[in-house]
Amino acid sequence: MSSLNFKGYSVISIVAFACLISVTLLHYWTSTPNNCAAPLPKLKQYWDSYFGRNGGRNGSSISDDKPILLLWIWPENYRFELSDCKTIYNIDGCHLTDDRSLTSSADAVLIFHKAISWDLSNLPPSPRPKFQSWIWFHVESPTNTKKIPGLENLFNLTLSYRRDADITVRLNLIAKSKPNEEFVIPKKDKLVCWIVSNNAASTGVGTRNQFYREFRKYIEVQMFGKAYARFLDYNEYYPTLASCKFYLSFENSIHKDYITEKINGPLSAGTVPVVLGPPRKNYENFIPAESFIHVDDFPDAKSLAEYLLQLDKDDEAYGKFFTWRKHLTPIPHLIQQTQEFILPICTACDYISRHREYREFHDLYEWYFS
Ligand SMILES: *[C@@H]1O[C@H](CO)[C@@H](O)[C@H](O)[C@H]1NC(C)=O
Ligand SMILES: *[C@@H]1O[C@H](CO)[C@@H](O)[C@H](O)[C@H]1NC(C)=O
Repeated sequence: MSSLNFKGYSVISIVAFACLISVTLLHYWTSTPNNCAAPLPKLKQYWDSYFGRNGGRNGSSISDDKPILLLWIWPENYRFELSDCKTIYNIDGCHLTDDRSLTSSADAVLIFHKAISWDLSNLPPSPRPKFQSWIWFHVESPTNTKKIPGLENLFNLTLSYRRDADITVRLNLIAKSKPNEEFVIPKKDKLVCWIVSNNAASTGVGTRNQFYREFRKYIEVQMFGKAYARFLDYNEYYPTLASCKFYLSFENSIHKDYITEKINGPLSAGTVPVVLGPPRKNYENFIPAESFIHVDDFPDAKSLAEYLLQLDKDDEAYGKFFTWRKHLTPIPHLIQQTQEFILPICTACDYISRHREYREFHDLYEWYFS
């Protein structure tokens, strides 16, 4: 969920950046945000390249013609300024609103799956105008998705982390137009770290917990987060990640393309992610093969631990995990919990400003669960 011109941005400045960039998914923090009010990053040029633009567009020239995107329900009631799409991502192609009096004129309605009531009584009125698209908005994995009946043939578009969704929400690495200076690996004073916010068995965390229980017999792991009573404040997130040589990017459940901010955090901070999730090949659709370690590369937890201990003593081998930084730039994601849905919502806004095609989406669950 989850941010940029990175020219002139070096990882050393992450500490200073941590307040500035208050990043996406902070399930880890229940503590109330401190005074670090997390001013929004003004990294427009980055987003111009992320969304394939040539540079700042002239908002005023298209304003009359902007499609209306109606946010039907605020996801988890995490409200943000509707102008944030423009302020943070320089996305200004739609008129984003939460005003339901615009329901009959909205070009698209964004409907958050988790908020839909079981009897569908809180959906927008039917029939919808012919020009209107309903967007299924869902960023959880299938393991954590309730099959609310009656939605199978209701939507026009899907918004998901999946690559085959109509609107894909992703934190991609960005290619640099020219290779630049050597990346400086941040100073490390911890070997392996892991931030765990959620440990509820129902969310599918069994696989990763089982692996961890075995793994920690052979190597020390510094634990942080809600589940371990070592809270990190927002402004401690990136600096803490940066201080660890390795970070356990263990997804809660294992599904194709379900590769979350858990990997974007360490990559952005200058830390090597150790991933547990879909197969290595799926990760390599998004990040370079040499940028991470996959638990499946090892026969068992013990041999992975031994490999990390060996890398700890071999700076040259460790440094090879960062060669990709010469050509690619990660984008630190927004980390405050209340910012979790800003990127998906703005991505939808960008999409509808460019697409007016007729579309119907059928057999939603067959697609999502297979
Ligand atoms: C935007 O476009 C309008 C109309 O074409 C023009 O008058 C205005 O100067 C432009 N603004 C910028 C910042 O380019
Ligand atoms: C969305 O789907 C409905 C039927 O499910 C259709 O009536 C409507 O025209 C579609 N809208 C667009 C913009 O494709």
